[in-house]
Amino acid sequence: GSTVKVALLGFGTVGSSVAQVLAASKFPGIELTHIFNRDVQRKRSSPGAKAVPASVVWTEDINDILNSKVDVVVELMGGLNPVEGWLRKALASGKSVVTANKQLIAYRGASLFKLAAANNVHLVYGAAVAGGVPVIPGMLQGLGGDQARRLSGILNGTCNYILNRMEGGADYATVLADAQQLGYAEADPSADVDGFDARAKLCILSRIALHAELNPDAVTTQTISTIEAIDFTYAKELNCTIRQVSQAERNGKAIHARVAPMLVPLSSPMAWSHGTQNMVVVSGRFGGDVVFSGHGAGGEPTAVAVVSDLLAVAQNCSSVQLPVRKREVTGEFMAPHYLR
Ligand code: HSE
Repeated sequence: GSTVKVALLGFGTVGSSVAQVLAASKFPGIELTHIFNRDVQRKRSSPGAKAVPASVVWTEDINDILNSKVDVVVELMGGLNPVEGWLRKALASGKSVVTANKQLIAYRGASLFKLAAANNVHLVYGAAVAGGVPVIPGMLQGLGGDQARRLSGILNGTCNYILNRMEGGADYATVLADAQQLGYAEADPSADVDGFDARAKLCILSRIALHAELNPDAVTTQTISTIEAIDFTYAKELNCTIRQVSQAERNGKAIHARVAPMLVPLSSPMAWSHGTQNMVVVSGRFGGDVVFSGHGAGGEPTAVAVVSDLLAVAQNCSSVQLPVRKREVTGEFMAPHYLR
């Protein structure tokens, strides 16, 4: 059909990367029309704004978007208030929503999905878990035919980055400051290190894979902020390292779920996850273990998930058909890059 008009709510690390990815790829049929943020003056003159077309309306008034002819609202602000009310209005007025907001989807997902369905619009949230790793679309579309028994993995890039660097001898406070500087950490980084970010993601994944609606507040979390250099020394003696691990599995009619720093054998794929790498292992009754892995935090990886969701919504479906061009086939042997 015609052009899909898109509004961005939030022009921070992820929002500006989304604008950049859209500008770089020029997807046909998608037009960025509005950007909402506080302090538009400052945002417009930030380096990230260079990728924003001149035609875009910048605004500090959410009603400029809610009352406009925008088709899709892309929410990258986070938190429940005031975002939830705005997105409810957007859905109720026939706008689809793409969001990276894990707290919103973990706590309010069930009722928001109903609202979206009642209004015949899409609510997609692939960027809410594991950044650029397509674990949500992968589980929804590729694993729906299995019966998942267990989920485990690394769901917070900031913690993984911190623990990796501590393993190499760096101290906690320094690496936390670096993670904030690099745009990995949440606005309040205690959400990362104390496990609240990972548990929201674990609840979102449990809803999909284990068909379980969990109260995030009921999931036990343990902070990584008390881990010290000596812990890594002991871990190493046991042929292990330390990772913030999130786990959920069936326990009779209940779900056993927790987020905590755990000893991970050096032989396990979880020990090999470096930097912001996230990892999700889904253990299915029929298909066995499936592993998703890739960058779970940072502007560009997260923007990939957001833009992929946007493309799916623009095509009015939950999976994307991309335009392809005819290409010549060459027969030259190309070595995998690790052999070069
Ligand atoms: N602060 C989050 C993380 C960002 O470090 O994983 C991605 O949700």
